[in-house]
Parts: sequence; C-alpha cells; structure tokens
Amino acid sequence: MDFNLSEEHIMIRDAARDFAQTELLPGVIERDNKQEFPDELVKKMGELGFMGIMVDPKYGGSGMDAISYVLIMEELSKIDASASVMVSVNNSLVCYGLEAYGSEEQKQKYLTKLATGEFLGAFCLSEPEAGSDATSQKTTAIDKGDHYLINGTKNWITNGGRADVYLVIAQTDKDKGSHGINAFIVEKGTEGFHIGPKEDKLGIRGSDTHTLQFNDVKVPKKNRIGANGSGFRFAMKTLSGGRIGIASQALGIASGAYELALKYSKERKAFGTEICNHQAIAFKLADMYTEIEAARHLVMKAAWDKDQGNNYDKSSAVAKLYASKVAMEHTVEAVQIHGGNGFVKEYHVERLMRDAKITQIYEGTSEIQKIVISRSLIRE
Ligand code: CAA
Repeated sequence: MDFNLSEEHIMIRDAARDFAQTELLPGVIERDNKQEFPDELVKKMGELGFMGIMVDPKYGGSGMDAISYVLIMEELSKIDASASVMVSVNNSLVCYGLEAYGSEEQKQKYLTKLATGEFLGAFCLSEPEAGSDATSQKTTAIDKGDHYLINGTKNWITNGGRADVYLVIAQTDKDKGSHGINAFIVEKGTEGFHIGPKEDKLGIRGSDTHTLQFNDVKVPKKNRIGANGSGFRFAMKTLSGGRIGIASQALGIASGAYELALKYSKERKAFGTEICNHQAIAFKLADMYTEIEAARHLVMKAAWDKDQGNNYDKSSAVAKLYASKVAMEHTVEAVQIHGGNGFVKEYHVERLMRDAKITQIYEGTSEIQKIVISRSLIRE
C-alpha cells in the first residue's frame, strides 16, 4: 500500500489547482450572483483535457485514471463547484456511459467531441415523479420500427440548457419494469425537444439546471445505447462512477472551506490573540481536518477500485455518503469560524456552504446511498 501520489498525479493536481486559482477564482462570486458560466471557461477546461479525463485518447480523451479525475475534481471544487459539476456530469455520466456501453459509431460521432469539450453532455434520468425511485420512469420511448418516439418530462437536468448531447432514459415496455427501460442519445435541436426555463437554485448557481420536455421526439434506432432493455442497468452503472465524481466534488468543497477557515483563524484576532489560539476554534479545525482526511481516503479508495477493475458500486456510495456529510457539516463550521464575515459573499465560505447541500441530493440522495450500501452488505 502506498499513500503517496505519483509524480504524474502531483503534476495533474497542480495543473488543476493552478487553473482553479487563475481562471475560476476571478469572477466566481459574480457568476454565482448572475447564475452564469461563460462558454470560454468550458472551452479552456476542454483544452486542458478536463472534459474527457478518463476517455481513451483514440476518442480524443486524456487517457488518465480515476485517481487523476478525483484530484482534478477536488481542486476545481475548492473554488467553483458550478464548474466541477459540469466536468463531473460530462466525464462520468456522459463520456463514461458512451465509452463503456455505446456503439463504435456513437463513440466516433459523439464521444470524440464530448471528450475534447467541443460538445457538452447532459444525463437525463430524473423526472417530476421519478427522482430517487428511478425505475418509475414515466417518459416513454415507443418502438416505431426504424425509430423511437419519446414523450415525457425530465427534471433538474445539469447542463440542461447548454448541452449538445443528451443521454435520455425512458420506458419502452412498462410490463417489463426496469428491464423495459432504454437509454438514448438525443441531439439538441431535435424537433419536439424543448428546454424549459433555468432553475433559480440555492447553490451551484453558475451551473444551469433545466426541465426538459419531449413531445413526439423522433430518435433513430441507432441512437439507442446498448441492447434493448439495458437502460436501467446502464443508468445504475454510470451513476456508480458519477458518485465518485460527486464525492470528490464534496471533498473539494469541504477542503476549500477548511483552507479558508484555517487561514482566517490565523489572521483574525479576538481577546488579544489570533482566534486559532482559542480552543473553541482550534478544536473545530482539528475535527474538520480529521474528517476531511477520512473523506479523502474513502474517495481515493473508490477511485482506486475503479482503476483496479473492482466493483465500485458500494465504495462509490460510501464515499459520496460520507464526503457529502463532511462537506455540509464543515462548510457550516467554516462560516461559524468566519463569524459575521462568513455571512457575506466576499469571504467565499457562504457560497461553499450553499454549494455543499446539493452533494447530499444529486446522483442519489444520502438515503439512496444507504440503500445501495446496505443492500450490498446484505448480499455479500
Ligand atoms: N449495476 C447493475 N445492475 C443494477 C445496479 C447496478 N449498480 N443497481 C440495480 N441494478 C439492477 C438490479 O440488479 C435489478 O435487476 P434484476 O431485476 O435483474 O434483479 C434492477 O437493476 C432493478 O434494481 P432494483 O430492484 O435494486 O431497483 P429499485 O427500484 O429498488 O431501485 C435504487 C434501486 C438503487 C434505489 C435506484 O433506483 C437508484 O439508484 N435511485 C437513485 C437514482 C439517482 O441516483 N438519481 C440521480 C439522478 S442523475 C443526476 O443527479 C445527474 C445530474 O444531473 C447531476
């Protein structure tokens, strides 16, 4: 066992840290206020290879491992979780889904552009009545011979307004339950595909989240991913990797808040000394450090499982469950350490606290992670 990062991993982490400091930090508060994220920044992340981190270079990807992915995600998330969710969805839900389960034609047509950042992807599973209960898909995809006809509504879709390629999960044969579900590639601009208004969110406000409407959307049969009826397993396997991404996002939010709190506590004085010298603050820092370090080990373990070819359904759920809890609890503590300054935007910690909450909700709520973990324990 080796807890040291390799030279290459250190270089990758430092490149992501440098990008986050020089390119993401300026304007992060304004982007959060205005709920926007410029295309140029997405393009720059593509140029650095952040949009197809684990994709094979033959499809335009960076060919890196999952450890590199979580290192990049942590660094981006310390500064701007809106940027990192775009990276996470594009990498672990869209690119991975296509690379692992798509046809060669689909890879050539879509993955090559998604992996370089020329295209952005979205993953459309959630519905108004099917969030945690993902098998209860109401969106239908009726087999019409050479094409499918998709009808329904998808909710809370990350990259919903700005994506070029949408992976859409829909029910083809209701009688077959989860075995009657398929996944499809839908291109932006397809007739009958409408993008609803942007959600006004608590956190990750720079990332765009939309409701999508499908009215008789004609999708060619060659755009179905995998064998008929494999869409639910496709979604579950893809989400297992997604949960490594969100766990590392939560880790980054927590460690970003901790670093700010530590720095502030060494500068701010009260009762004649820097506040870090008061045990009330010092013990908070000790708890934060300890639990963030524990989260980091769980995140790395899940990424390592993926790199080793081990099953990572359980380890990714454990990592997400724990890292998101740490992110929520310790961003609240970071605000507390900052006192009144923590409540104003220029100190960044209030944004990190707002951003932390979504990590306990998307890509499977904490309660869903407990279902995944406990079922896995009982099966073992
Ligand atoms: N790998 C392979 N197969 C799997 C699997 C996995 N990880 N998980 C389940 N399956 C299979 C089961 O084996 C079962 O197959 P059989 O019928 O052949 O036995 C089938 O799928 C159905 O599974 P379950 O009976 O376990 O299904 P369930 O209805 O009990 O639901 C669940 C399971 C884990 C709760 C699932 O519904 C779930 O993960 N829900 C959460 C969904 C989620 O994470 N949504 C996030 C939205 S995406 C998002 O947030 C993206 C974004 O934009 C940021």
